[in-house]
This record gives sequence, structure tokens and C-alpha cells, in this order.
Amino acid sequence: MVAPAPDSRPAPTDLELRQERYRAYRHAHHADRLATRRRLLRWAIRLGTGAFSLALLLPALALRTLTREVQEVTAGDTLVYASGDQAGLPVAVAALAPGTAVQAFPEGKSGNERNLIEVVRLAAELPTGLVAYSAICTHLGCTVMPQLSAQGYIACPCHGSMFDPAAAAAVVHGPANRPLPALPIAVSSDGVVRAAGGFAGPVGPL
Ligand code: FES
Repeated sequence: MVAPAPDSRPAPTDLELRQERYRAYRHAHHADRLATRRRLLRWAIRLGTGAFSLALLLPALALRTLTREVQEVTAGDTLVYASGDQAGLPVAVAALAPGTAVQAFPEGKSGNERNLIEVVRLAAELPTGLVAYSAICTHLGCTVMPQLSAQGYIACPCHGSMFDPAAAAAVVHGPANRPLPALPIAVSSDGVVRAAGGFAGPVGPL
């Protein structure tokens, strides 16, 4: 067996040892500083992204709130035909024959489809013979039919729910399990139908 050759390198001097230790310290310190910088950079990016998202979100939320406020049906709104030849014209009570219905929007608020209203002329007598409800089905939110069914009910074409307009739009056939919310209305001196308030309950499915 061959004995290992003796280390012929000269032993490091005191100065060299101190320089070596200093280099090691500098290296460790530099690595620490780099890690700290990376952490700060990551936080700065997160904060920047958050601030940017907030800057986009806040105006959108403000606009949405404003739009909702402006578009909800309220007392005094004139009801206008939602579709057909007379779309946009006021609904005159004289044009509604007993046993018929029309769909209407509050004037200037048709941008919010949840404002769609089913106006039903139950009978010639006023005001009891005229009622109005949300035209958005409480089951899954389809628009109900503008015409009454053969039995005089408000019918939803999606899954067959039926609501009785003469009984506060109670459900007479499911799957809906909640009546259509009522809209208080009044007929003004010129014979035009107007809203006398907002919907009595939440519109569409809960
Ligand atoms: Fe009207 Fe389903 S959405 S019955």
C-alpha cells in the first residue's frame, strides 16, 4: 500500500485566513441582500397588481350601482309597450280588453330587463280590474308569455309554470314555488298606466 504524499502546500498565513473569512462573509451578506430584494420586489408587484385591479373595479362597481339606481322601476314611471308596433308608446287602459295582457317597461328603463312587467286587465272595473306583475319567472328567470293562457293564467314557456293573475300571481302549476312579485299601478287622468311604486318582492329566482 502506497502512503499518501505529504501536503507540500505552505500553511496559510494569518492574513490569508482573515481574507478568506472576509470573502465568505461578503458572499453570505450579498446572498442575503439579494433574497431581501427579491422579497421586496414580489411584494411591490403584488401591491401594484392589487392597486391596478382596484382602480379598474371601483369605477365599474360605481357605474353598476348608478345604472341600477337609475333603471329600477319606481312610482310615477309611465308604462310603455315593450314590443310590437306600439313599442315605446304609453299603455292606455282603454286599449286593454278584459281577459288580456301586455308586456311593458317603465319608460326610459328598458335597458334593465328585470323591469319587464306583465300588465293584466282582469275585468272592466277599475282599479280592481287592472293588475301588474314582474314578467320574470321566479323559477329560473325566463320571461313569461305576453298573452294569458286559455285558463287566464300567466304562463312560463320554459318549464310550464303557471301563475294566477287574479290571485296575486299565486303559483297554480310548478316548478316555480313563488308568486310573481306584484307592481302597484295607477291610471292617471289621461288614461295612461303608471307605476305607483317598485316591485313588492324580489324579481326572478332567489
Ligand atoms: Fe319559468 Fe322554469 S323558468 S318555469
